[in-house]
Amino acid sequence: MPTRRKVLAGLGAAALARPLAAAEDAPGLGALAAARGLIYGAAAGPAQLADADFAAAFRRECAGLVGENDFKWSVSEPAPDRPAFARADTVADFAMANGMKLRGHTMIWHEQLPAWVAERIASGAAGAEAAIRARVAGIGARYRGRVFSWDVVNEAINGADRRPDRMRMSPFFTALGERFLDVAFHAAREIDPSAHLAYNDFGVEHAIPWQDGHRIGVLRLLERLRTRGVPVDTLGIQAHLRADWAFDEAVFARFLREVASLGLRIEITELDVDDRALPADAGVRDAAVASLTRRFLDVALAERQVRTVFTWGLSDRHSWLSTFPGRQRADGSRQRGLPLDEAFARKPMWHAMAASFRAAPSRG
Ligand code: XIL
Repeated sequence: MPTRRKVLAGLGAAALARPLAAAEDAPGLGALAAARGLIYGAAAGPAQLADADFAAAFRRECAGLVGENDFKWSVSEPAPDRPAFARADTVADFAMANGMKLRGHTMIWHEQLPAWVAERIASGAAGAEAAIRARVAGIGARYRGRVFSWDVVNEAINGADRRPDRMRMSPFFTALGERFLDVAFHAAREIDPSAHLAYNDFGVEHAIPWQDGHRIGVLRLLERLRTRGVPVDTLGIQAHLRADWAFDEAVFARFLREVASLGLRIEITELDVDDRALPADAGVRDAAVASLTRRFLDVALAERQVRTVFTWGLSDRHSWLSTFPGRQRADGSRQRGLPLDEAFARKPMWHAMAASFRAAPSRG
C-alpha cells in the first residue's frame, strides 16, 4: 500500500477535485509551523468567518489571524472621534475563541484613511501629531493583551516619490517628516508594553531594480529608527510575490541578514503569489506558484529571526488579487495565489508551504 506521503506527492491537478472531508485530515499548516516554533496564520474578515465551511477550513489550517481590512482606520473610525470596533471585535473574538494568535493591521497607513483624518493631518504638525497619538492609543488600548504583534506603520517608503531617502510623501510625512514614525511607535509602546511593534512594507522580496532601491530605503529607515531609540522591534515583510518576477535566494537572504543584524525580528505578513502573467491553465499556474513559494519560504525560514508566516487570505475564493483594480487576470479567471483552492481543498502551494515548514530549522 502506498504511504500517505506518496499519495499526496502524486496528487497533481486531480487533487483539486477531491472531496473536502476525505482529503484534508492531515495536520494543517498551523500545526506544521508550530512543530518548528513558527506561527502560521492568514488574513480574513467577519463575512468569511461567518461562513461555516470557511471557518472550519480556517480552524484546520491556521494558528493565527489578521483582519484583512477590519482594523484599518477607515473601518475602525470612519467618523471623527467615534471608534467603531464591531468588525475588528468579531475578528478578535474568533481568534481568541479558537486559541489563535491575533495580528493587528494597521495603525498608521496612508491608504484606507478617512477624509476627516486626512484633514486633521493636513492641518499642521500639532494636529497631525495629536491625531496619530489618539489613533494609536485608542486602538492599542482596545486590543492590548489580544494583539500579539502590531503593524504600527505600513508602507512609509516609496522610491517613486524621488527623495534621496526614499521616504514616501504621505500625509503623515508631509506634516511631520520622518518623526511621524517616532510618534507612532513611542505611543504604541506606551499603550501596549508587550506587543511586538512592526514596521510593515512590500517591495523587498524580488531581484528587480525598483526593489533593490526599496530594500535600501527600508534598511536605512530601520537603522535610523533604531539609532534614535524608536521602539520598533519587527520588520513585517508583506511578500506579495509575483510569479513572473525574478527571485534571487542570495539577494533576499542578504537582506534578511541585514535586518536581523539590526536586532529586529521578522514576520512574513501578507504572502500571496500574483499569477496574472501566467497562462490560463490551472496546473501550470499552480506549479509556478508552488515553486516560487517554496523557494521564497526556504530562504525566509533559514533566517532564525523570521518567526511568523501569514498569507493574505487562505483560499482563492477570497483574494484581493482577484478583486483589486489592476491585479485581476486579463482572462477574467480567479487568481490562484493562496494555499487552498476556491473549494477549500489544498493546492500545490499548500504542499510547498508544508514542505518548507517541515524543513525549517526549529526556533528555540
Ligand atoms: C488590501 C485588502 O486585501 C483589500 O480588500 C482592500 O481593498 C485593499 O487592501 N498591502 C496591505 C494590505 O498592507 O492592507 C492590503 O490589503 C494589500 C496590500
